[in-house]
Amino acid sequence: MRRSGAGMTRPAPCEIDRRRLLAGAASLLAAVALPAERTAAGVAAVPAGGLSLGELAAAKGLLFGASFATHELDKPYGASYAATYAREARMVTSELELKLYTMRPKATALDFGPADRLVLFAREHGLALHGHNLIWNDALPDWIRRLGPDEAAFLMDTHITTVLERYRADIPTWDVVNEPIAPWDRLPGNLRGGVFYAALGEGYIAESFRVARRVAPQARLFLNEAQTESDDENGAVFRASLLALAKRLKAEGAPVDGIGLECHLDSRRPYDFPRFAAFVEELAAEGFEIAISELDVNDVAFPADPAERDRKVADVYRRFLAAVLPVKAVRRLTLWQIADHTSWMYYDDVRLHPKALRRPRPLPFDERFRRKAAWSAIAEALDAMPPR
Ligand code: G3I
Repeated sequence: MRRSGAGMTRPAPCEIDRRRLLAGAASLLAAVALPAERTAAGVAAVPAGGLSLGELAAAKGLLFGASFATHELDKPYGASYAATYAREARMVTSELELKLYTMRPKATALDFGPADRLVLFAREHGLALHGHNLIWNDALPDWIRRLGPDEAAFLMDTHITTVLERYRADIPTWDVVNEPIAPWDRLPGNLRGGVFYAALGEGYIAESFRVARRVAPQARLFLNEAQTESDDENGAVFRASLLALAKRLKAEGAPVDGIGLECHLDSRRPYDFPRFAAFVEELAAEGFEIAISELDVNDVAFPADPAERDRKVADVYRRFLAAVLPVKAVRRLTLWQIADHTSWMYYDDVRLHPKALRRPRPLPFDERFRRKAAWSAIAEALDAMPPR
């Protein structure tokens, strides 16, 4: 086993062959299971022609995929996890591997191991890769939170340069700045505070994009934001703040190619999806490409019965996608994981309620990687969407 980074080990080629063999076998089995497969709730899962979600999306010019976490490959279900992505996705987003706290856990460490492993997996399975994320004033290791302004500005420049120099040949699109809006910080423009904001004010955002453009001129550079979807005060503030920020960045010539709208939908919030689609059109009218970048449905307020909950989650996907997929500027649809038990919500739920019997069911595949009602809802929406 070769060692890389801070003690991380990457499988030697011979081991990748064994893993590849396992993933391939699982993929073959899964593919064979497709035509006869039914969802956990007994709902017929296979749309016309038995195509996967990735294939249905590709037929309309949309790139479909999900966030991916390499540590899931080492779990007992790793081969099924790999096979499900290989079959259903055409792209993957790095859920953890390219984050600052993963790559730079300490000031003296720079760990490329997990990201290298993800690049290898994507290359092996012919999946496009989306890099998430370069700069985020959240989810930072303490040593970064404690940096002074000059050190933070230097780290920002150095980190973007180092990561893009290493991965620009393998990763064509990036969330350069993640979640810049945070009304609770009460800063101008409702921007999120934090070590990079403290260093450069709002300027940290445009500067991040300028460095990224300089180092990776071929890459498509995205600003990624959450909480713009709901039909309430919170959603309204996020939509207004993001649109205003996007216009300021455009006016100053910051090289922002696109905007990722995370779309973590929640059964506790009100939605007017046609109204949200109008907001997406407003962003698109400024010349930005749009990605639905982290779609999932928190089912916490839906009934306990799994089949009923699955039907309600599927209905949210159905109504959301019917409103948003007709927006031609939407070129990528990414779920945040693809199976319930690998979702961030599931991990949070296990951590917070270790003895609970009810677990979140936010995604189109269940814990045995069987297609659910949400899979059919997404497949039908992709089948019905206008081509790009
Ligand atoms: O793997 C370790 C495990 O070994 C350890 O026992 C455990 C202790 O809590 O932590 C595990 O790592 C966790 C990791 O997820 C894997 O589950 C980290 O603590 C936890 O912070 C990390 O959370 C991730 C979070 O971003 C922060 O990076 C979530 O998985 C990930 O889904 C979430 O994704 C964010 C996007 O980046 C931005 N938009 C919102 C989205 C959801 O919060």
